[in-house]
Amino acid sequence: MMGRRDVFHWAIRLILVCVVGSVSTPAKAEVKRYQFDIQVKNVSRLCHAKPIVTVNGMFPGPTIYVREGDRLLINVTNHAQYNMSIHWHGLKQYRNGWADGPAYITQCPVQTGRSYTYDFNVTGQRGTLWWHAHIFWLRATVYGDIVIMPKQGTAYPFPQPDFEFNLLLGEWWNDDVEDVVKQGNKLGLPPKMSDAHTINGKPGPLFPCSEKHTYAIEVGSGKTYLLRIVNAALNDELFFAVAGHNMTVVEIDAVYTKPFSTDAILIAPGQTTNVLVQANQVPGRYFMAALPFMDAPLSIDNKTATAILQYKNIPNTVIPSLPQLPALNDTAFALSYNAKLRSLNSPRFPANLPLKVDRRLFYTIGLGINPCPTCQNGTQLTASLNNITFVMPQVGLLQAHYFSLKGVFTTDFPDQPPTPFNYTGAPLTANLQTTQSKHPRLSKIAFNSTVELVLQDTNLLSVESHPFHLHGYNFFVVGTGVGNFDPKKDPAKFNLVDPPERNTVGVPTGGWTAIRFRADNPGVWFMHCHLELHTGWGLKTAFVVEDGPGPEYSILPPPKDLPPC
Ligand code: C2O
Repeated sequence: MMGRRDVFHWAIRLILVCVVGSVSTPAKAEVKRYQFDIQVKNVSRLCHAKPIVTVNGMFPGPTIYVREGDRLLINVTNHAQYNMSIHWHGLKQYRNGWADGPAYITQCPVQTGRSYTYDFNVTGQRGTLWWHAHIFWLRATVYGDIVIMPKQGTAYPFPQPDFEFNLLLGEWWNDDVEDVVKQGNKLGLPPKMSDAHTINGKPGPLFPCSEKHTYAIEVGSGKTYLLRIVNAALNDELFFAVAGHNMTVVEIDAVYTKPFSTDAILIAPGQTTNVLVQANQVPGRYFMAALPFMDAPLSIDNKTATAILQYKNIPNTVIPSLPQLPALNDTAFALSYNAKLRSLNSPRFPANLPLKVDRRLFYTIGLGINPCPTCQNGTQLTASLNNITFVMPQVGLLQAHYFSLKGVFTTDFPDQPPTPFNYTGAPLTANLQTTQSKHPRLSKIAFNSTVELVLQDTNLLSVESHPFHLHGYNFFVVGTGVGNFDPKKDPAKFNLVDPPERNTVGVPTGGWTAIRFRADNPGVWFMHCHLELHTGWGLKTAFVVEDGPGPEYSILPPPKDLPPC
């Protein structure tokens, strides 16, 4: 029999269950709407003014705030004289390539005077991602943050920060960027390098006329800050550090990591990194600084962008101290930093790594020289995967695939390089011509098959590090190394327990990187080097992932307002 006390306890428990239950009941998915007006605006930096393409007149553009599970409707209206297309970098776009954004891959661009609404769900992801123009080099000024909050009532798997700040690292040219690129293409050479790096669009006080173009954050002693760092630069991998303060890395590319403390991070174009910083130093002013990493014999914009971390009540007259950053060519730091990245792989956030591989791909990354009758020297620098330079189509590849249009692309991209050679021996300077077919060559992947792709850098002209980005997926970085990948020995050293999961990974200079993913997202998915220079030179391809069984595993029908070519 239940006594009076027991009844009382039962009642209390019931009330508790109800209260707790209502708190943890998943909040309804919301629809979040944004209006993106593409507008040209005059902006001045480094004592130079010029018109730039922006979203809503802002540089950098607006931050998108969304909660995991929400639906986003972003209407893009193009008032500029350029064609436009916007990519939501790192969003998986399940079955919904129509909202992915790369021009001529998943859609035709939004023409002047037209609109297109990107309509997608944010599912199974939380953290920092970003958006950017995905046509020509317009992302130089058209970019912004995406902050995905965890579901209501779900905490971070790390101490709750008191405040958070977004830091978008970028690159600035004094001249019109599209002109700079045209100039380079005419010569068949790299265009001139950027004039500054920037933090939230501002180069900081080490540059001329930039005192007023300095980003600063105010911190209170004893508080913890979450910094959401994005590398939106076009061509430069960057080191980032805060003077006098360590950072704890907790997330990369919107995936939680095993936390580790470091005095500098390395971040490649396309990547995001969340770090915790404690304001636990002598109150003062401290520089946060971004400086490039370049360990190949190539020239680069080597200027340091700075922003200021300032403790409350410290006057602006105090001169901030600079952080100790790794040297420009510090390969050892780069390799050891990347080796520390591990996915959290907890019961709540498991690493769903494919252990069995259905399809093995091996792609070499190369530079080359092709004849170019319209170029000044009659030749142009180019880039290739398995010696194939990607040729841009005239219509969207996803439409061509969905509507089975003939004569747009072929699916004969080779799984292996045409002729094996010593990829990372002495620089190769002869026979540098690449293959350019009339139509882009893609690789067809069976639905739900597991893929392992080894990306191998080569010494064609020069070795160099390449950040590779795959659309539509996250992948696991199971291994990386310097020199030639050895299919007999290297797989034994793969991390098949807690490899980092991300959407963009660096292939080290003169080395290789192995990634794995499950092809469970049907569509046409772009994969390319996220250095804009190399993308433009053809260092890209796409996967055609076939539909699964039945409509619920197939590509969604295209939206009515999908832009025409
Ligand atoms: Cu962030 Cu295809 O790019």
